[in-house]
Amino acid sequence: MQSFIPPKRTLMGPGPSDISPQVLQALSRPTIGHLDPLFIKMMDEVKELLKYVFQTENEFTIAVSAPGSAGMETCFVNLVEKGEKVLVCRNGVFGERMRQNVERCGGTAIVIDDKWGEPVSLNKVEEALLKHADIKIVAFVHAETSTGVLSDAESISTLARQYGCLTIVDAVTSLGGVPLFVDKWQLDAVYSGSQKCLSCTPGLSPVTFSKRAVDKMKSRTKAVQSWFLDQSLVLSYWSGEGKRSYHHTAPVNSLYALHESLLMLKNEGLEAAWSRHAFYHQELKEGLESLGIQFMVDEAYRLPQLNAVYIPEGVSDVEVRSRLLNEYNLEIGAGLGDLAGKTWRIGLMGYAAKKENVALCLKALSDVL
Ligand SMILES: Cc1ncc(COP(=O)(O)O)c(C=O)c1O
Repeated sequence: MQSFIPPKRTLMGPGPSDISPQVLQALSRPTIGHLDPLFIKMMDEVKELLKYVFQTENEFTIAVSAPGSAGMETCFVNLVEKGEKVLVCRNGVFGERMRQNVERCGGTAIVIDDKWGEPVSLNKVEEALLKHADIKIVAFVHAETSTGVLSDAESISTLARQYGCLTIVDAVTSLGGVPLFVDKWQLDAVYSGSQKCLSCTPGLSPVTFSKRAVDKMKSRTKAVQSWFLDQSLVLSYWSGEGKRSYHHTAPVNSLYALHESLLMLKNEGLEAAWSRHAFYHQELKEGLESLGIQFMVDEAYRLPQLNAVYIPEGVSDVEVRSRLLNEYNLEIGAGLGDLAGKTWRIGLMGYAAKKENVALCLKALSDVL
């Protein structure tokens, strides 16, 4: 065996996305102790930067030391207690994972389904809340990566609040790519991933909890069944000036990378980043349509950072994707579930949302098709 030297790919799938050299450089800086005062100071800055990207003043805003799925699980295991009802809005792969999380916590999932390719229906949310007065939490995916659909997080949250419920929101693909306002929209538990529009290395999951969510965690009757994800234990590691105690060994270098990627986003400005995603989405859309490729999702709720398109008739999904990879070093995503073989998912996430990538993707697709 020899050292592994990966090829230089352009990542335009559903994540991970391209990472800037600046972030990769940060990753390779010397490792220091995770309780070193300088590292703790950097963790404080990561918290501040995360508060900015989440648009929140929530004190409890940290990065879970594991990928987005662990962020999802963190929210469910800490907030759902045995016997509680949770409304799960399912319009793709990740809504179904939420349902499984609820059941594994001993909760009861009340599921409302929307067609893949469509957003969560507000009417169905309200009907379910009216029918089940004992629902405690409403869980939904803001940006469904499996279909490229954006749901109306603000309106779902308003409804949830009206019926006395908390919200658990999957913002894995939305954070940094489209507007998300945790405080303004009064979202309660929100999790994301480092590898999508933040363009950091995979393996970290930013989460934020409102005061209402923290109060619910504090009033639990039983300890959280997961030791690692129990936020009452994790918090002593992430907070408290100078009096932090060991919980687990933080992924030191990955957190350098997250710090750098968040700093880049802050320097660009969130609004500018949202506009950049929208701008290159438009450029990609025009190019794809001129190749005769149709979008799957209605423009009204289409994600700029994840473009789900139909594979043209008579074209081999696998052959095209493998030629893009082998001849152009370009990765695009396959369809998931029922959409496998029918759609491609072309990501324009974070550092990958740029002119060169759009041009490469259009040229490569046009040649190969
Ligand atoms: C919407 C959504 N939720 C959750 C996840 C899980 O994140 P991870 O793969 O980092 O565990 C993903 C990953 O693609 C996602 O797109």
